[in-house]
Amino acid sequence: MSLTDIDGVVLVGAGRMGLALARGWLNAGLRPEALTLCDPAPQDAATAFADEEGVVLTPVPPREAARVVVLAVKPQVMASVLPTLGTLIGPHTLVVSIAAGIALASLLDGLATHRVVRAMPNTPAQIGQGMTGAVAAPGVSSEDLEVAEALLAAAGALLWFDEESRIDLVTAVSGSGPAYVFYLVETLAAAGAAEGLAPEDAMKLARQTVIGAAALMDEDMTDAATLRQNVTSPNGTTAAALAVLMAPDGLAALMKKAVAAARKRAEELGR
Ligand SMILES: NC(=O)c1ccc[n+]([C@@H]2O[C@H](COP(=O)([O-])OP(=O)(O)OC[C@H]3O[C@@H](n4cnc5c(N)ncnc54)[C@H](OP(=O)(O)O)[C@@H]3O)[C@@H](O)[C@H]2O)c1
Repeated sequence: MSLTDIDGVVLVGAGRMGLALARGWLNAGLRPEALTLCDPAPQDAATAFADEEGVVLTPVPPREAARVVVLAVKPQVMASVLPTLGTLIGPHTLVVSIAAGIALASLLDGLATHRVVRAMPNTPAQIGQGMTGAVAAPGVSSEDLEVAEALLAAAGALLWFDEESRIDLVTAVSGSGPAYVFYLVETLAAAGAAEGLAPEDAMKLARQTVIGAAALMDEDMTDAATLRQNVTSPNGTTAAALAVLMAPDGLAALMKKAVAAARKRAEELGR
């Protein structure tokens, strides 16, 4: 399904992630008149977006039932937002929530529809390079799935899961993942500076290395391990560094602990 065929999309919460999605939808062909932004206290960015793109921005949820409602408010306010949606959610409305940690069961409890998709995007969605994991409630029709897919894929890659418990793992790997990569840049730069580089030079080297390596991976679908082996000459400099990183107490062990901690926190937030 193409976004040009979809009408009646209401975005509740025109914050950072909501607006990133909305930009992606318009870029992917959603007509501005098919989109309504709903936010009681919109940031300047939301007002500017609505003005520039000719999209309606309203402080209160429209009364007419929408075809799709995308919930992009903070998880902490979700319980107070659901009861305000009223007639915006009809029996034929598909609801897509991107709120971290809010389970399908609580969304189904608080909404007048069984058609609910829970999704977890990440921040590169802002530039159409996101990674989203999603799960659908049993009441979601195949047409709903196509609609959800068209909306979520506008933010980048999309992976569907059958089990909702996987979404906490999506959060731990790709949802929080961009921050791990940013931290990798910080630590690589700090290590370069500790060895004697000027901090700004070290940061430039580290940052562009991650940008370049990511772009290379994007061009070449070879798996990451092979790409790594391809740049590791036996007994060379990369091999010397990797011997440290790949030691039993090295990066793999640390990353395992980090992802487990993120997953545990996601589970706690969802309770
Ligand atoms: N940012 C990410 O990397 C990321 C990744 C995956 C998922 N998410 C999820 O995306 C959701 C939004 O995150 P965000 O970073 O975009 O947060 P955000 O920038 O705070 O955006 C949320 C927006 O919703 C507005 N809002 C509050 N109450 C509302 C209501 N009753 N009706 C309509 N809008 C309302 C907020 O207004 P005020 O500012 O006035 O409160 C704000 O503009 C969260 O649930 C988060 O878990 C975010």
